[in-house]
Amino acid sequence: MPTQVKHYFLNVVLFSIATCNTVSCLAQSRGQRHPWMNSQLSPDQRASMVVKEMTLDEKITLLHGTGMEGLGPVSPLAAQSNGGAGYVVGIPRLGIPAIQMSDAAYGVRSSGENGRYSTALPANVGAAASWDLDAALAYGALIGRELRAQGYNMSLGGGVDLAREPRNGRTFEYLGEDPILAGRMVGALMKGEQAQHVIGDLKHYAFNDQESGRSAVNVNIDQRAGRESDLLAFEIGLEESNAAAVMCSYNRVNGDYACENKYLLTDVLKKDWKFQGFVVSDWGATHSTAKASAAGLDHEEPAWIFYGDDLKKAVESGRVPLAEVDDHVHRILWAMFATGVIDDPPRKSVVDVEGGLAIAQRIEEQSAVLLKNDGQLPLDAAKLHSVAVIGPHADLGMISGGGSAQVDPPGGNAIMPPGKGETEWLEPIWFPTSPLKSIRAKVPGARVQFDSGSDPSSAAALAKTADVAIVFAYQWESEGMDLDSLSLPEHQDELIAKVAAANPHTIVVLETGSPVTMPWVDQVGAILEAWYGGSRGSDAVANILFGDVNPSAKLPVTFPKSEADLPHFTIVKPPRKVTDAESQGWQKTAAGLPAFQVTYDEGVKVGYKWYDAENKPVLFPFGYGLSYTTYSYANLKVVPGRNPRVSFTVTNTGKRAGAEIAEVYASLPAAAAEPPKRLVGWSKIRLDVGESKEVSVEVAAKYLSIFNVEQHGWQLIPGEYTFLVGGSSRDLPLKETISLQ
Ligand code: BGC
Repeated sequence: MPTQVKHYFLNVVLFSIATCNTVSCLAQSRGQRHPWMNSQLSPDQRASMVVKEMTLDEKITLLHGTGMEGLGPVSPLAAQSNGGAGYVVGIPRLGIPAIQMSDAAYGVRSSGENGRYSTALPANVGAAASWDLDAALAYGALIGRELRAQGYNMSLGGGVDLAREPRNGRTFEYLGEDPILAGRMVGALMKGEQAQHVIGDLKHYAFNDQESGRSAVNVNIDQRAGRESDLLAFEIGLEESNAAAVMCSYNRVNGDYACENKYLLTDVLKKDWKFQGFVVSDWGATHSTAKASAAGLDHEEPAWIFYGDDLKKAVESGRVPLAEVDDHVHRILWAMFATGVIDDPPRKSVVDVEGGLAIAQRIEEQSAVLLKNDGQLPLDAAKLHSVAVIGPHADLGMISGGGSAQVDPPGGNAIMPPGKGETEWLEPIWFPTSPLKSIRAKVPGARVQFDSGSDPSSAAALAKTADVAIVFAYQWESEGMDLDSLSLPEHQDELIAKVAAANPHTIVVLETGSPVTMPWVDQVGAILEAWYGGSRGSDAVANILFGDVNPSAKLPVTFPKSEADLPHFTIVKPPRKVTDAESQGWQKTAAGLPAFQVTYDEGVKVGYKWYDAENKPVLFPFGYGLSYTTYSYANLKVVPGRNPRVSFTVTNTGKRAGAEIAEVYASLPAAAAEPPKRLVGWSKIRLDVGESKEVSVEVAAKYLSIFNVEQHGWQLIPGEYTFLVGGSSRDLPLKETISLQ
């Protein structure tokens, strides 16, 4: 009998002995008051007590999933799953519940096929554009609540790879190009989720910065650059949130697969960062038993190719020490006790639809970045007689990010007639949040007409007849692909240029997950980057266009002038044998594909650090974003110390109340050999007209340090530090240099 099948039968037997039926047995075993059910004990003590009671089979049960269609074997036990991406059988005899995992990047996934409803928040990159830790907390809390309401106790959200390669098809799922911004934002988001008593997860650890050939690519990056870039985002995210799980990625890093990479999993994550939770493999990213286990992989998903019978045999034959398995199990139990999923298991309920919509809209209003405004915005509803709304599907909906992050819209894909078939993997999905309707609602007395833009000349003809033309342009992204380029697809550049030529009052609203190039930038009056706007995107956008909301968001990614300015002119594509093998399914990828190399020789110079170092002009810089008011900066003082304190005054000098994101950067001493400057802190301040506020930002010593590979730690280089303060990475009016030792 093949080992996987044997293991599966064992699982069934175990499960039947242990169950009767899961719910009543759990209740029974709670009633017996196992000593580890005492919540006064630490998660660590509780986990240790359980591990001592467990048989080897029970231990192994916790170390793998029960399968997913199309990705290897599927156990009949998977029938107990709540319908999410991962299901781990519990140990009812010991009161340990099953782990029900769901993808949840910008909302809970798979709600459609399970007959449920989930709120779609703005894309994660959009949330990062709010630079608002409270908004991120609310974002995470909403996801946590909807996970629990749907019966899940573990989230697979928390993507925080850096936007090192902006053509990465998952850029919308991540939090931008800066490790401190991304780390703090994902930290707040995960804190919000875990506060709802679900296990949180950060992913994809690490350097999964492109999707092309992701199961084969070997990323080469030097240690210092790695620690100061992508890894720093994870480090800060974990510090801030104590997320109880980390998902290792598909790719290789410096030779070893991430899920069997001792440097990443043990040396950095578990030793340096003292991570107490567990490492779960990305789906099908496990490639070995003994090597992965020794390297620090705790749990295989979605099946048990390596962590089922093979692991059991390896323990019995001494190839894998039992202590290693105990550590894996301990970490999983620790995560369950620490996050409260055992003390306060999820209870299914109806999600708060209205509450979710209101939160999604509020966050989008804080996330859409006003990139250009020659004075056309905000629109004055009282003066508008006619509006042309132009762009693919702008009458019906707004686009959303695809892949395992995909949230299902109520009623299905808004651009398909109801009941006309399902949208497949790698097909764009539009949410029923209609720009046309939201704009009509703002100007009920005006003539608001729509043109899809499929024929740019007819769109331009309509634009010519209107007081104002609003073009909704999009660039769709998804897991499993990268963008061919940063240009808008489907001739949308031509569409915008033609409309702008026909009407000098042209406003462009972008629905993208990555930066785009804009050959028409000088021809249009205003540009709003709305990202993927979520369930209530169109109302949020209309509120900004008509001035009910004063925009405050700032870019978490640089918009380059051209792709020629990126560190890599093109994405390295996998060789044919890799794409062929990938298309043949999981068996091939599980077996391990021949590596192809991607070398991140820009190192720490991700995003603005690259453009600064190379002295390249950009289209819109990192940290940039306009408002309907203006701000001034004055009185910079920097008090040296271990964590220097930077204080300054921000004044609202315009005619509307608003919120300003005040950014603090530092230039390190030349001896540090770092890019010209790095973000070290920020503060978001709400200011009435004419109001001034003193702002004080404490800068953590680590944010000013370099990673010293020889000493294996963060080091502050003694010398002169220049602090720069202002409203964008390329508009920093305040400057003071101090000496730090
Ligand atoms: C993705 C993960 C996701 C997992 C489960 C993988 O393809 O890379 O982000 O959590 O599937 O759906």
